[in-house]
Amino acid sequence: MAAKFEYTPPVNPDAPEDSLEHRSAHDVDLGTGRVDAERYYSKAFMQKEWEQLWTRVWLIAGPRSDLEEPGDYFTFDVGRESIIVALGNDNQVRAFYNVCPHRGNRLVLNEQGCAERFTCAFHSWSFDLDGKCASITDEETFRPGVIEGRPNLKSVKVEEKAGLIFINMDENAPPLAERFGLPDGYLEGYQLDKMKVVRHVVSEWGANWKTGVDAFYEVYHLHAVHPQTSTVMDDFGTQNDIYPHGFSRMIVPLAKKSPRVDDQASVDPGLAYMLGEAGLDPEVYDGDASSVRKDIQAFKRKRADDLGLGWDGLVDGQLTDSWATGIFPNVQIGLHPEGAFLMRFMPHPTDPERFYYDTITLYRPVDDESWKVPDWMGLPEGTDVSGDVRAERGFVPFGEAPDLGLVLDQDSELLPVVQKGIRSRAFEGPIWSEQELRLRHFHAELDLYMNGKK
Ligand code: FES
Ligand SMILES: [Fe+2]
Repeated sequence: MAAKFEYTPPVNPDAPEDSLEHRSAHDVDLGTGRVDAERYYSKAFMQKEWEQLWTRVWLIAGPRSDLEEPGDYFTFDVGRESIIVALGNDNQVRAFYNVCPHRGNRLVLNEQGCAERFTCAFHSWSFDLDGKCASITDEETFRPGVIEGRPNLKSVKVEEKAGLIFINMDENAPPLAERFGLPDGYLEGYQLDKMKVVRHVVSEWGANWKTGVDAFYEVYHLHAVHPQTSTVMDDFGTQNDIYPHGFSRMIVPLAKKSPRVDDQASVDPGLAYMLGEAGLDPEVYDGDASSVRKDIQAFKRKRADDLGLGWDGLVDGQLTDSWATGIFPNVQIGLHPEGAFLMRFMPHPTDPERFYYDTITLYRPVDDESWKVPDWMGLPEGTDVSGDVRAERGFVPFGEAPDLGLVLDQDSELLPVVQKGIRSRAFEGPIWSEQELRLRHFHAELDLYMNGKK
């Protein structure tokens, strides 16, 4: 007989009612099963994932704010494919396979830019921003039947949502709205459309992309891997919300101590840092640890009202806490009104035991003398935060530390080691607690795709 199960998942007191409107952690039973470890390293599984998942699911190609003027474009690489996302002269966003129909050359070689049309580097055929073939070099040398119907770029489905551009390689894919599981207006509340990319780093890690997703979908590992967070993050009090279509969220209270810390009262250096960072002087602060979070919220609320930042739609918890939101299959966004961390776990084209950790820092420029870029955003010295310049995409080669700050460096060191253990013939698949509910939920959705049910 199994022992009685008495754990009650935490509910964040600041979470809005509607956060529990959909299926939430509290009324869904995803069972107790284990998935096969093979999914983390098998080439056959990887190939099936490509066919059943990546080429059929809506994927975040990039933020809409990357396309400002007609002619602006960027490329989005996934597996072996590269996709061009471009803003046309009619201000329409379009997406195409990054392939020249003539002899297959990759058409656009850089990551972003602004162009009147795309010209292939092999034989100079050119294509308009709407994908139409604009010119064929020495056209008179092609027999008419050969170029009949004009060889245009092959288009990819594209939709916009909450300041993000989604693409789907499946011509028959249902509309994004039918596959988007978050509550209405939740993502929009953060006004991602007003944020600009100020940093973009892609690093290559020695683990399966799902080993990455799993590690970022729970805070159960914080005490062990990131012990420095224990006085400023309430890991054990984190609310997990799960939504339709594999979407999910965790609400991690910040400026609040973990119950794992013995001293619950004093304002330690971690909390003092958070006070100071928010603009409150820790030297004269007369509250204790339990009041820090509320006081930071009140301070931020007033400042946002004074500056007219339009944060009224956000509850107090959203001003301090990390609402880490999972967009199936491969994205987590750490949402804050000042900025957002969009991280994508991109599959390697050939090796199931590698992935690209693609991380975009979005920042909302505020035009006021008193405004300071939050230090916790971890932007390197000299980062241009004016919003006028789109950050270049940086690449960190395999095996090098991504240098993204202590917490992420800790994760990047850990994951290849986890991957090695997963690969062992002794490992029988993960055992998930209710703190890891989002992982169970994510893999259940993945299985729907893998089993042809979606
Ligand atoms: S392959 Fe592009 S023009 Fe020939
Ligand atoms: Fe971590």
